[in-house]
Amino acid sequence: MKPINPSELARLKEVGLSTLHPPGLRIAVGMATCGLAAGAGAVYEAIKEEAGKTGLNLMLIKTGCLGYCQQEPLVDVRLPGRGRVLYAQVSTKAAPDMIAALAQGRLPAEGPLAVIAENGNSKEIRLEGFDHLPFLDELPFYRRQQKVVLRNSGLIDPASIEEYMAGDGYQALAQVLSDGDPERLVEAITRSGLRGRGGGGFPTGRKWRICRESSEETRYIICNADEGDPGAYMDRTVLESDPHSVIEGLIIGGYAIGAHQGYIYVRDEYPLAVEKLTGALAQAEELGLVGPNILGSGFDFAVTIVRGAGAFVCGEETALIGSIEGTSVEPHPKPPFPAIQGLWGRPTVVNNVKTLASVPIILRRGPDWHRSIGATGNAGTVVFSLVGQVANTGLVEVPMGLTLKELLEEVGGGGLNGKRIKAVQTGGPSGGCLPARLFDLSIDFESLTGAGSIMGSGGMVVMDEGTCMVDVAKYFLAFTKAESCGKCTPCRDGIRELHNILSRITAGQAEAKDLDTLEEIAGWVKACSICGLGQTAPNPVLTTLRYFKDEYQAHVLEKRCPAGVCSALIELAINQEACNGCGLCLRECPTEAISGKKKSPHVIDPVKCTRCRICADVCPEGAVQVVR
Ligand SMILES: Cc1cc2nc3c(=O)[nH]c(=O)nc-3n(C[C@H](O)[C@H](O)[C@H](O)COP(=O)(O)O)c2cc1C
Repeated sequence: MKPINPSELARLKEVGLSTLHPPGLRIAVGMATCGLAAGAGAVYEAIKEEAGKTGLNLMLIKTGCLGYCQQEPLVDVRLPGRGRVLYAQVSTKAAPDMIAALAQGRLPAEGPLAVIAENGNSKEIRLEGFDHLPFLDELPFYRRQQKVVLRNSGLIDPASIEEYMAGDGYQALAQVLSDGDPERLVEAITRSGLRGRGGGGFPTGRKWRICRESSEETRYIICNADEGDPGAYMDRTVLESDPHSVIEGLIIGGYAIGAHQGYIYVRDEYPLAVEKLTGALAQAEELGLVGPNILGSGFDFAVTIVRGAGAFVCGEETALIGSIEGTSVEPHPKPPFPAIQGLWGRPTVVNNVKTLASVPIILRRGPDWHRSIGATGNAGTVVFSLVGQVANTGLVEVPMGLTLKELLEEVGGGGLNGKRIKAVQTGGPSGGCLPARLFDLSIDFESLTGAGSIMGSGGMVVMDEGTCMVDVAKYFLAFTKAESCGKCTPCRDGIRELHNILSRITAGQAEAKDLDTLEEIAGWVKACSICGLGQTAPNPVLTTLRYFKDEYQAHVLEKRCPAGVCSALIELAINQEACNGCGLCLRECPTEAISGKKKSPHVIDPVKCTRCRICADVCPEGAVQVVR
């Protein structure tokens, strides 16, 4: 294939700009996994059908995730001459009115969330009819955010390489190849202060240099898109919403280290991410941006997508390498590190999705720009999937150095239903639970590690007063117990024993000395396991013991669960004054433990009751209470 030249990139950019800002109406529906789960697929079809009925001429686009997952389905309507408005929680029922309004040359009045600023659109000029509507970046959820990794997410069509190019996509690659100076490239990434976003925070430039300086001719680069942590979906969203940013970062990384083959190891349980990535790769290959003689530079680079083997440990870099090789998916002790001896025994860089997606924009805007964001030694932004008992949930990107309090209160909007936030778990199952009294902590690699947690790859689970911290530790240990590959004894047997003790504590069967044993085993598992899974799995135990010891003591010494969660330690009863005798609980109770006449207060038989709480869930009056 004849390679395209940089002037062809400029032409494709014009094409992208013309679809992003067409002369006519453009409607974009957020169709990443979060949007689809909320019904965006049906909304898209309803809009299409209505437009077809009325003959309205429009460009209907499927975009990715804008981050505010809770407000999905999100629909971005751009009506030239009128403005651009984002609509939230759009239902199929809203489609006829939406299309009818647009057909009359008006923006729909129902369900607007924010105005989206267009290029050169002054915020002084409010949109006619939407004067009180904030701009998107004025919403509390977005105000403290700074989009670097997620710069295109939800704004472009991930299936269009031209729309990626409209935001200067592939320009960094073109520049790097025309400079022909990989050494300077590594220097720029080093100077930018970029640290790996896969959890460990290892300086990316340093990793690239180690690999580049190897005397071995054959080298590889791998994008780690395994993302197996429960509650985390940052990497999935980047792949679903902006796959070209990852591909461009991977090619640039390959050029920097002298690799001619790259791999993207993507979690198999992410079908949409695999689809978007596969489509984007085919487009890049078609245009000669991947393959032989890229942009006429003489640089050859191939990319292979490998689907993950379905275990959390597959994300650990040495296990991941084994998985690509088709050998065992078990971690190996380090050293040797993959940058020295990795895939097929050759020097290999393994980088996270977000690390690679950051590379093109860092090169375009310059290392000093990236260094100016964030905190000392922690340049740039961090992406979190903010989930749990917090008012605003979704994908957030904030500068490093923001405090936990700023993130939770300002971006997250505080506890769900106005409840007080008790703790936050960062770093997924390998992270720790940090109590509210530490919320002034800066979000950076060192501060979180110092407090006993980790940054991890960006899962953040928020918990309120209704959460039992012993139960939370047990939950995460159940996960790591199931996911331990079993190769090393401390991880395999140690985590199982930690989980056994936690189960005894939550069942009210533990003795005081179990707390010491718990701490001792946790220390051994951390110190002696061969890979990061075992080395970090005890973190939820150690942090909850450190910050919530009183809850452990209440379980062990008083056989009481202060949060009223552990079923063996609680009793449910119906508040006789609050119960209106509607009979819902009686009907739903699976063990027939509830009795009572219609319209008079009901009672629970504590012997038959299994504390499943279905009665509490269905009671419209909130009359079911924990009494012990
Ligand atoms: C059990 C376990 C699971 C991991 N899962 C991932 C993952 O899903 N994605 C990821 O990028 N890194 C994961 N890591 C970290 C990788 O081993 C590696 O450090 C990372 O991919 C390096 O990329 P970075 O330098 O860009 O951070 C995991 C580590 C462990 C111990």
